[in-house]
Amino acid sequence: MDEFIIEGGQRLEGEVTLSGAKNAALAIMTAAILAEGNTILQNVPNLRDTRTIAALLKHLGAKVTFENGQAEINTDQINDLVAPYDLVSQMRASFLVLGPLLTRHGQAEVSLPGGCAIGDRPINLHLDGLTAMGADITLDHGYVKARAPEGLHGADIFLDFPTVTGTENLLLAATLAKGRTILRNAAREPEISDLAGILNSMGAVIKGSGSDVIVIEGVKSLKGVSYEIMADRVEAGTFMMAAGITGGRITIHKTPTHCLAAVEKKLTQAGLSFEYEGKDSVTVTGPSSLRSVDIKTEPYPGFPTDLQAQFMALMCLANGLSVIKETIFEDRFIHVSELDRLGAEIRLSGNTAIIEGVSGFSGAEVMATDLRASASLILAGLAAKGQTELSRIYHIDRGYEKIEGKLTALGANIRRIKK
Ligand code: EPU
Repeated sequence: MDEFIIEGGQRLEGEVTLSGAKNAALAIMTAAILAEGNTILQNVPNLRDTRTIAALLKHLGAKVTFENGQAEINTDQINDLVAPYDLVSQMRASFLVLGPLLTRHGQAEVSLPGGCAIGDRPINLHLDGLTAMGADITLDHGYVKARAPEGLHGADIFLDFPTVTGTENLLLAATLAKGRTILRNAAREPEISDLAGILNSMGAVIKGSGSDVIVIEGVKSLKGVSYEIMADRVEAGTFMMAAGITGGRITIHKTPTHCLAAVEKKLTQAGLSFEYEGKDSVTVTGPSSLRSVDIKTEPYPGFPTDLQAQFMALMCLANGLSVIKETIFEDRFIHVSELDRLGAEIRLSGNTAIIEGVSGFSGAEVMATDLRASASLILAGLAAKGQTELSRIYHIDRGYEKIEGKLTALGANIRRIKK
C-alpha cells in the first residue's frame, strides 16, 4: 500500500491547473448509458473512482476507452443489467447507473452500496423517486431490483433532503420517461448543472437545473455528444487552503470561481486574500497568521461538506476558537483523531467540533480514513514541523489527480513510497 512522506514547513508558491470535477465526471459517465452512439468526454480526471465507473460500464457491456483525460463511451451493446457488489461497494456513486439502466432498458439490478466511513448513507430518496415514476422495486439478497417493462412515466417528486446523487439518478431517469417530471427541493450543486448540460446537448429537455425545482420533459431517445467536464471546485478549495496553511501564494487556473462564494468568504475571514485574473484564474495568498472562523456545512450554495476536513486543518492553526458544524454527514469527523496526533486541540460534541488553535503541528504517522480526510492530513503535514507519514493513501487516489506532482511543483516536499 502506498504512503506519502511529507517534510513540512515549505511555503507553497507557484501555479496549478485544476483537473476535471470527479463528482461531475461520475454522473456524466453514467449519462452515456442513455445515449445512442458515442459519448466523448473531455477533462475526465484519471482517478480511482472514474476508473471504477469505467470498469462498471464495461462490465455492463459498454465499449469504453479512457486515456489522456478523454473518455469515449458507447453503450449500444449493453448486455448485462446487473451492477455487482464488488464494483458498487468500492464506490457508492456506482449506484448512479440505476436510473439510466432502468429508463433505457426497463430493468436493472444494482447492489446496495453498504457501509461508508462518513456516516449512514441511505438511498431511500432515489428509490422513492423511481417508484413514483412507475418502477417496481424490491430488495433481494443485497440487491435493488427495479423493473419498469413499459418504461417510466413522469411524476411530481418532492425530495425530503436535496440529495446530490439522488437528484442525479432521478434526473437521468426522467430524461427518457413518458411525460413531465418535476423534482422539488432538488440539489443545486454545480455538478448537477453540468450533468443537465450534457443531457440537454444529447437532446433532453431539462429546465431549472441549479435551482431547487428541476422540470424534465421526457423524450424518446438521446444521442451521444462531445462534452467537456467542469473543473473540480473541491480541488480548487483544497489548493486555496494549501496557500492558506503554508502562508504561501498559489495561482489556480481553470477555477470555477462562481461555485466557490461560500468558501472564499470564509477563507477571506480567516485572512486569505484573492486576486482574480481573466475569467478563471485566481491567486490566493495566505496570511502570516490565520484567524479563527466558524463554519456550518450545508447543501450548495452553502459551505461544502467536501471541504470541511481541509478547513478544519486550517482552523487548528488559527488564533482562537472556531466551531465547525457538520450537517450533511453525521460521522464525517474521523480526521479529528488523526489531526490530534499532529498536535491539534479539538473537542467533539455530536455534530460539532470545537477547535482551539495551536501554534503549530508536529509531524507524525497518520492514517487516511476517507478521501477528504486524507486531503486534510496532507494540508496539516505540509504545515507541520518535521516528517509526516500518511498511510492508506488509496483514499486520496480516489479523488485528487496527481496530487503529489501538483504539490511538488508548488514547492512541497512530498513523495510517494510503496510499502
Ligand atoms: N440522504 C438520505 N436519503 C437518500 C440520499 C441521501 O437520507 O436517499 C441523506 C444522506 O444520508 C446525507 C445527505 O442526504 O445525510 C446528503 O447526501 P447526498 O445524497 O447529497 O450525498 P451523495 O449524493 O451520496 C454526493 C457526493 C459527495 C458529497 C455529497 C454532499 C458524489 C458522487 N458524491 O454524495 O462527495 O459529499 O454529495 O455534497 O457526487 C466526496 O467527493 O468526497 C463525496 C463524499
